[in-house]
Amino acid sequence: MNVANIRNFSIIAHVNHGKSTIADRILEQTGSISKREMKEQYLDNMDIERERGITIKSQTVCLNVVINSNEFIFNLIDTPGHVDFGYEVSRSLSACEGALLVVDAVQGIEAQTLSTAFLALKNNIKIIPVINKIDLPNANLNKVKNDIANIIGIDTCNAVLVSGKYGSGIDDLLVSIAQRIPAPVGMINNELQALVFDSWFDSYKGIIVLVKIVNGIIKKGNLVRFIYSNKSFVVQEIGVFTPHIKFLSKLSTGEVGFVVTNIKEIKYAKVGDTIVNHQAKNMKSLIGFNDIKPNVFAGIFPNNNTCFNDLRTVLEKLSLNDASLIFEHETSTVLGLGFRCGFLGLLHMDVIIERLEREFHLDLVITFPTVMYNVFLKTGRKIVVDNPICMPDSSLIDYCSEPYVLVKIYSPVKYIGGIIALCQNKRGLQINIDYLNNMYVMIYYELPLSEVIFDFFNKLKSLSQGYASFNYELLEHKKSELVKVDILLNHNRIDALSFIVHKSIARKKGKLCCTKIKDLISRQQFSIAVQASINNKIIVRENVSSLRKNVTSKCYGGDITRKRKLLEKQKKGKKKMKQIGNVKIPHSLFLSLLTVYEYS
Ligand code: GTP
Repeated sequence: MNVANIRNFSIIAHVNHGKSTIADRILEQTGSISKREMKEQYLDNMDIERERGITIKSQTVCLNVVINSNEFIFNLIDTPGHVDFGYEVSRSLSACEGALLVVDAVQGIEAQTLSTAFLALKNNIKIIPVINKIDLPNANLNKVKNDIANIIGIDTCNAVLVSGKYGSGIDDLLVSIAQRIPAPVGMINNELQALVFDSWFDSYKGIIVLVKIVNGIIKKGNLVRFIYSNKSFVVQEIGVFTPHIKFLSKLSTGEVGFVVTNIKEIKYAKVGDTIVNHQAKNMKSLIGFNDIKPNVFAGIFPNNNTCFNDLRTVLEKLSLNDASLIFEHETSTVLGLGFRCGFLGLLHMDVIIERLEREFHLDLVITFPTVMYNVFLKTGRKIVVDNPICMPDSSLIDYCSEPYVLVKIYSPVKYIGGIIALCQNKRGLQINIDYLNNMYVMIYYELPLSEVIFDFFNKLKSLSQGYASFNYELLEHKKSELVKVDILLNHNRIDALSFIVHKSIARKKGKLCCTKIKDLISRQQFSIAVQASINNKIIVRENVSSLRKNVTSKCYGGDITRKRKLLEKQKKGKKKMKQIGNVKIPHSLFLSLLTVYEYS
């Protein structure tokens, strides 16, 4: 295809504004998939994506489109909307010349829309504003148009108005893509330079990379090389997704497609690397990408230690496709052998755990998530602690530091007071308040990452009745007074329940934790002491007395069927118990402690 008739674009938007639905309509309208094949959110092909209605992995499709009798190739890259997966957005933007900025006609623009739109503008990407959900009775087109123009600074006179749900406006959208998004700029006669913007593992074919050919041509059978990893390979297969697989003999300048490498280790096919001809010397890398670093860490243990090897195999398998998932061995005195895993955020963690349990049928115990702290010892040595078990004795510590983030909150002006109170309460430092117009503000705060990842989002949403949204970027570590709180059950320290927290809230969190555990442990044949301690000094104690827990106490009426249901539920819950010393605790206890943060 002539480069002039190629359009590479992505769809950027805040979560739930309708990217996947619009992608579905584009697939339908261009005849890329038949009505019979169509299922909602076609490009979200993981079960979890479809059930939760979120996009986790980016997808790319190559569409043949005819506009005014001219043939075009549209490469559509659907991207995730959640803050945890922002990295995927930046990768896909690097392969595009244009972006559809999809904004919900009722919700209007949100923090993430803003940050991704600014990222696109910085990369000189042509943005087409698209206002979606115009079918909704409370759609406010003028307001949304004005907001996009005033706040993002792009012209909205010819914003495309669509209803992803009913398909109206999709024809106009296709014409706008052809007319307004520039063709890729590259030289077919130059040496090959292909930008790797995604990769995954296939057990038969090895690593497959998604590339954009920036210059030159790549052909099946060519000997090529990754510049960064300096690994060469013979191109096994080449093709595109239409969304069905279509094998081709070559990909030329401007085109986007997959290349089968036959390489078995993902470390050689790094996202952001550049593929060049093997013999080409002194070729420069194209703009690379940042290394993805996990922000949240938790222990994953098989409930039954004989399943340890199964868990390892499955984690290895998942990490082949997900470069942001990292793991290493961990041993806990109470939970046995398991893995310390690093995730991009809590949603990413949730998705991985759900996949392990659902797709691989593993019965797991997950420990309380934490961030990565730096601990500076009196000897001058620095150690990195992503697991409370590894926190050195306080007598050895000179000082600690924790990761901070710059949080950008976009909100209607009237919620500003509540938002400031929330940020102050979370140990925040106010940086700026920017009045975007007389309706909206952008509030900038520096906050500890540990305070942001847990329930910041929920609190922000509830205090602003759902109108405020936020985004964050990582900053440096800052000095912080941190302590480790240990939890003891019948005087035995449960290492997997320890957590690191700021000194000022340690007692409060210890108390909440003990109360929560007390509520979660059903009464057993003997009484149980639940204690929290700092440096071996007990700061809180709760007791679980030795009676059978009366789960039916909630039923004050005489409804016997409801009583039976509750007893059945209790019976099921009992099956999923973990024996710790002489105390049985429910599996869910570890993760349930997350809610401790909700009350603080
Ligand atoms: P992520 O995949 O999480 O990034 O979300 P998304 O932006 O892809 O949103 P998605 O397409 O999953 O749509 C979110 C919800 O909005 C779904 O329930 C859709 O059915 C609904 N929706 C999307 N477009 C329209 C529309 O034009 N009108 C109406 N009424 N609902 C829509």
